[in-house]
Amino acid sequence: MKNNPFLNQIITGDVVEKMKEIPNNSVHLTITSPPYNVGKNYDNHNDNMDYGEYLSWLGSVWKETKRVLVPGGRFCLNIAPTGIKDFVPIHHDFSNQLRKLGMKFRTEIVWYKQTMLRRTAWGSWKSPSNPHVVPSWEYILVFTKDGDKLEGNHTNADITTEEFKEYSDGHWKIPPEINRNGHPAPFPEELIYRLIKFYSFKGNIVLDMFGGTGTVALVAFKTGRNFIHVDISEEYNKTTKKRLDEIRNQLKLREYDSGSKPQKI
Ligand SMILES: C[S@@+](CC[C@H](N)C(=O)[O-])C[C@H]1O[C@@H](n2cnc3c(N)ncnc32)[C@H](O)[C@@H]1O
Repeated sequence: MKNNPFLNQIITGDVVEKMKEIPNNSVHLTITSPPYNVGKNYDNHNDNMDYGEYLSWLGSVWKETKRVLVPGGRFCLNIAPTGIKDFVPIHHDFSNQLRKLGMKFRTEIVWYKQTMLRRTAWGSWKSPSNPHVVPSWEYILVFTKDGDKLEGNHTNADITTEEFKEYSDGHWKIPPEINRNGHPAPFPEELIYRLIKFYSFKGNIVLDMFGGTGTVALVAFKTGRNFIHVDISEEYNKTTKKRLDEIRNQLKLREYDSGSKPQKI
């Protein structure tokens, strides 16, 4: 682990190029949400690619993801079908790609975002002629590499009984993040906290190769894991650094106040 030059680093650059530099079999858990190709206004990415090109680009990212994971390592992929009238089953396309690469599709978690009150599209209102179903949820597709079991010392398993019972029910009601930190699609911390606690041991390495403003890195740090954060945007990476510095300063202040070692936040 000490040989991993990316450990606890914020890396700016292209996902495929940077991932190629991460050593084989070195990451325990990858959590990510790629651009959905729906025309979002990212700092440094065209979110309107030809769909075939988009899939082939992400196919090369999945290949690197598999290579860097340790045996038993997990890949938690957040994705949702896009389009309402012109439905695009992007989640099926991704899972097919990953299964072809030999990853085992372990489960899917439904992230219910509780946003139905904001809906604007109904299709044929009150008529069965062509009504719309609006996706009010996203998926976390969970894959494993080379078997299901992640090796780890049980003294480093830090999930509580209540958390384990709650998270093993695969329907998670978590509102979307309101505090966007200048990013169009940040993760809510609660979502990442659950994935990290459920799927990794303390001290493990957690990667987000489309890291945005650093929610995965931040929660990994707060929960005593190591992180690797990659994003192409310098702007988003500056925000990630700022968020991590704030947490580090809070920990230092607590240490100063209590005269003891930093505590888990
Ligand atoms: C859906 S967002 C991820 C947001 C993140 N989950 C968060 O909590 O902030 C996708 C991210 O992919 C990044 N991105 C797009 N193309 C990239 C590339 N070629 N290499 C690395 N990152 C890229 C974008 O800058 C964007 O921040």
